[in-house]
Amino acid sequence: MAAGKDKASQKDPKARHDALAAEIAAHDVRYFQDDAPTISDGDYDALRRELEDLEKAHPELADGSTSGIGAAPSGAFATVEHPVDMMSLNKALTDDEVVEFLARVRRFLKLPDDETPATTAEPKIDGLSISLRYENRKLVVAATRGDGRTGENVTANVAHVEAIPQTLPKDAPDVFEVRGEVYMTHARFEALNARLVEEGKSPVANPRNAAAGSLRQVDPAKTAERPLDFFAYGWGEVSALPAETQMGMIAALKSFGMPVNDLTRVCHGLDEMLAAYAAVAEERAHLPYDIDGLVYKLDRLDLQRRLGERERRPRWAVAHKFPAERAITTLEGIEIQVGRTGALTPVARLEPITIGGVVVRNATLHNADEIARLDVRVGDTVEIQRAGDVIPQVLRVLTDKRPEGATPYVFPDHCPVCGSKVEQEVNPGSNEKSVVRRCTGGLICPAQQFEQLRHFVSRAAFDIEGLGAKQVKAFHDEGLIDTPADIFTLQRRDAERPEGSRIIDREGYGETSVANLFASIEARRTIALRRVIYALGIRRVGEVSARVLARHFKTWAAFREAMGALAADVDARADRRRVLRAAGRRKKTAEAAAEVLALPDVAPEAARAEELREELTVIDGIGEVVVDALEAFFAEPRNMAAVDALAAEITIEDDVDRAVSSPIAGKSIVFTGSLEEMTRDEAKARAEALGARVVGSISKKTDIVVAGPGAGSKLTKAQELGLTVWDEAAWMEAARG
Ligand code: IVH
Repeated sequence: MAAGKDKASQKDPKARHDALAAEIAAHDVRYFQDDAPTISDGDYDALRRELEDLEKAHPELADGSTSGIGAAPSGAFATVEHPVDMMSLNKALTDDEVVEFLARVRRFLKLPDDETPATTAEPKIDGLSISLRYENRKLVVAATRGDGRTGENVTANVAHVEAIPQTLPKDAPDVFEVRGEVYMTHARFEALNARLVEEGKSPVANPRNAAAGSLRQVDPAKTAERPLDFFAYGWGEVSALPAETQMGMIAALKSFGMPVNDLTRVCHGLDEMLAAYAAVAEERAHLPYDIDGLVYKLDRLDLQRRLGERERRPRWAVAHKFPAERAITTLEGIEIQVGRTGALTPVARLEPITIGGVVVRNATLHNADEIARLDVRVGDTVEIQRAGDVIPQVLRVLTDKRPEGATPYVFPDHCPVCGSKVEQEVNPGSNEKSVVRRCTGGLICPAQQFEQLRHFVSRAAFDIEGLGAKQVKAFHDEGLIDTPADIFTLQRRDAERPEGSRIIDREGYGETSVANLFASIEARRTIALRRVIYALGIRRVGEVSARVLARHFKTWAAFREAMGALAADVDARADRRRVLRAAGRRKKTAEAAAEVLALPDVAPEAARAEELREELTVIDGIGEVVVDALEAFFAEPRNMAAVDALAAEITIEDDVDRAVSSPIAGKSIVFTGSLEEMTRDEAKARAEALGARVVGSISKKTDIVVAGPGAGSKLTKAQELGLTVWDEAAWMEAARG
């Protein structure tokens, strides 16, 4: 992702800049005007950061048009110019970012490392900011933030907000712009929603949206029906500052009759700041209103002034956000997603709800165990948590709200995508059942097919030249290749397609490349057993176990027969094993197998399968985990069918000791002249792999001389000595091994 963006901005920084600016502006409108954001704060911040970085790298692009905060007023209200900009805050998402904030402050003020100026720690209220202008102690204008420079005149609406005084006492400054947050308490929010529902209207997603909607009612009388609250925490234009510290200002605001948040503290250093953060986080669940973090501000106003602002964010303050936000909603359904490796993940489908400014529709339920632990049922009222940008999760069920007749969720035992059986695999380390349920339809499950095909053509598997992940993806997307066998019927099927829709007609292909592609597929039609076993992409069967299995079975026929037998009656046998283990009689595999067989009603196929298990688990390099995986894979008839379809298309070479079987094993060999089919280095490597010794000069002891065109004195000498001389064709024949 990031690389793509970098490329885009490198290629055409102006285009990327304009696109970003437009995207941000659209999000601003949705957030500030419509009260209906469509992306998370984190994603929004990332866009802004990218834009800032781009403008840093290309100052000519920074025309100032993009530094605005918020959206311009919507037009329903008269506009108000803020005499002093309404700023936004830089965010800190981690403790480290708070440390960084303090370090920046120190650097800027040239303070020593061990000196941290005092800060206030204030709850960050999740409402909307407002500026209240008092002239001669009378409220004259109330304005929303708007884009930070110009807001909307909501004076008439604010008249209905009881918490906002219309006048200030005598000792207040002549001109005083009080700034703070308008919000709605949980109780009032719930009452509002109850009323809306009763009236047949749709409820509001969260208190913030409710507050914004209430304040921006075109008919001010409507604001009165939706009671709002207010906390003061700042100021704009002031004729005479009543204090010299942030905390002093808050006290002054309080003395002027302004509601201020009494969780505000003065902190001396990082530790106290983080302690305040922890304390407020603890308190959060019990507060009657939403907060989404803490705001730290330098307490001394002279320091605030020295630090100033950058891009309309004060250098002297930072918002330390809470990581998670919670909400209550209804679980409308549970959907099972199948990942690229076949893992089944349950996803909660929720009645959409806004959490921290983002509409949440889905939450993860992790796995079957989590569903069981929560005992979450369709129709339940659930609490959701959204932490940063991670996928929201279901925290708990409000069981007292459970609808009648809601039944416990039954996790599917078949893959919802391909219908294959679902397996609960065993963790190799602990030998315990894993919480992950997996689709066993590796080769035939559409959700897993691409991953499977990619593995199939990979280096250690079929390694088909010109058919890498990219090409496989394209062919798979177009439905040309679904399973491995399709690769080997590609040419045939391609020839049958109407002209104009063949591979040759695709972009990037010409006559030569298509011919090459088919040739390299043909070149792999004959292939070693171990490569085939590895290529099937059976879980837990890597290169090493594939080689061990190939050594053990030697031929495809033997392997195939064994796998067929191993897959017989899997469920019943697994049940038996479980019974035995549960009875506390877990012993070595051989004994366990014997005991399984000793149980009554063992079908003959099952007996053979248990014998095979025993045979396999004792092989060095193959354990029970691998055997379980083989069983699960081959027990799925459609995997078996896909494997058979592949085997029918290819020739699988027996696994024999190459060094012994090769016609050149143990021989000394000299290459002379040029080779056309391979380079000299390649030929040397190949000969050595086949057990030959490659030497540079001819002697009586030389067994074979491979002479290509242009061979000179060496060839003559070989003929004189009566040595075996091969041409390149003979060498190639031997080189195939
Ligand atoms: S100070 C000079 N203090 O958070 C900086 N803002 O993301 C101006 N907010 O626009 C903001 N509680 O709407 C400040 N105690 C607090 C706050 C607070 C909530 C909001 C405010 C601001 C936004 C910045």
